[in-house]
Amino acid sequence: MDSREYRDWVNERLGIGREILYLSLEDCKATGPTNDEIFDLTERALTAHGNKQVEMPAKIGLHPQPDSLMHAMPAYVGPELACGLKWAANFPTNQDRYPDLVPTSGLLVFNDHESGLPMAIMDAYWITEVRTPSVAFAAAKRLARPDTKAFGMVGCGIQGKAHVRMVERVMHELEEIVVYDVFDEAMDKLIEVCQPDVKASIRKASGYEDVVRTCGVFATATPITHVPEPKLEDSWFRPGQTVLLSDCHSLVEDVTVKRADKYLVDSVDQHQVLEGYGYYPWGLPEIYAETGEVVAGVKDGRSDPDELIVVNNVGMAVEDVVVARQIFDRALDAGIGVRLPLWDRTS
Ligand SMILES: NC(=O)c1ccc[n+]([C@@H]2O[C@H](COP(=O)([O-])OP(=O)(O)OC[C@H]3O[C@@H](n4cnc5c(N)ncnc54)[C@H](O)[C@@H]3O)[C@@H](O)[C@H]2O)c1
Repeated sequence: MDSREYRDWVNERLGIGREILYLSLEDCKATGPTNDEIFDLTERALTAHGNKQVEMPAKIGLHPQPDSLMHAMPAYVGPELACGLKWAANFPTNQDRYPDLVPTSGLLVFNDHESGLPMAIMDAYWITEVRTPSVAFAAAKRLARPDTKAFGMVGCGIQGKAHVRMVERVMHELEEIVVYDVFDEAMDKLIEVCQPDVKASIRKASGYEDVVRTCGVFATATPITHVPEPKLEDSWFRPGQTVLLSDCHSLVEDVTVKRADKYLVDSVDQHQVLEGYGYYPWGLPEIYAETGEVVAGVKDGRSDPDELIVVNNVGMAVEDVVVARQIFDRALDAGIGVRLPLWDRTS
């Protein structure tokens, strides 16, 4: 379907410019994309990013509380006819201050890229939940050793669970998943809800060292601290490992990221902005490639079994809008969501 055909298809189902579709978190889930489909959509978004077929300025942010962030994330992905803006927040201190509220939230405005008009407002919590591990594992598919037997997860919250549920999508020889969290109950919960979904056996780590020494590939998804507070000692790392960071450099030592054979980020622009905000007080390492460039095949993935590779993905709006388009299309087809009036041109 080309751009005009797509617009006509939408217009037959929703009056562009007169109404918008509101999709709650449950509505988004009810449209039913599987993990495999989310993974494929995310790879398509990364491929478009790697081929420079997108417009995506670095996200700008507010930080109303210590170590909190609110990000405005716009993107247009031409090949996917996907255009919109995510307004996302992460407030880790909600755990203490508002225990009944989640730390991560977001809304996404999905626009008609032909006229600019908004067509939908949807929850972005679930989109973020599922696309983030897809990015990590799209990277791992090209950068991790295929013979990896143990995967580690540091941080057992929303992202920890989402990563564990998706890891076997790309790591087919896994025997063990080793998880660690500062809260014992978070590890117990992850094992309870994720073990039925994965073949590898999940066990609690005895500490950070256990994860790093045991696992050929591991991911970290803990609160992003404005200034890194390293917990993973450089001496525990070994050649051949692949490290997937979703929380900037919060837990890793500067020496580790700087001595890695390949260091990747999802968006150079984005990480330079974060550096300007002070998140990388010792400076960004030399960047080998953007994640999308490796996914698109513009840059090589792993070229040596002994390479230590660190991938630092902070999340990109291109992933969100491509997944959002799929959710929007399915919702229109299935009659999911609530139509809200936008503008009555007769008034
Ligand atoms: N890169 C991306 O695209 C992306 C997307 C979503 C979230 N994130 C980031 O991922 C991180 C996790 O997000 P979430 O939604 O899973 O949050 P969450 O609050 O659900 O989970 C965080 C978990 O980390 C644990 N934790 C806290 N400090 C720890 C430490 N020092 N060591 C080990 N565990 C620790 C907490 O107990 C909690 O279980 C956040 O920093 C968030 O900003 C990144």
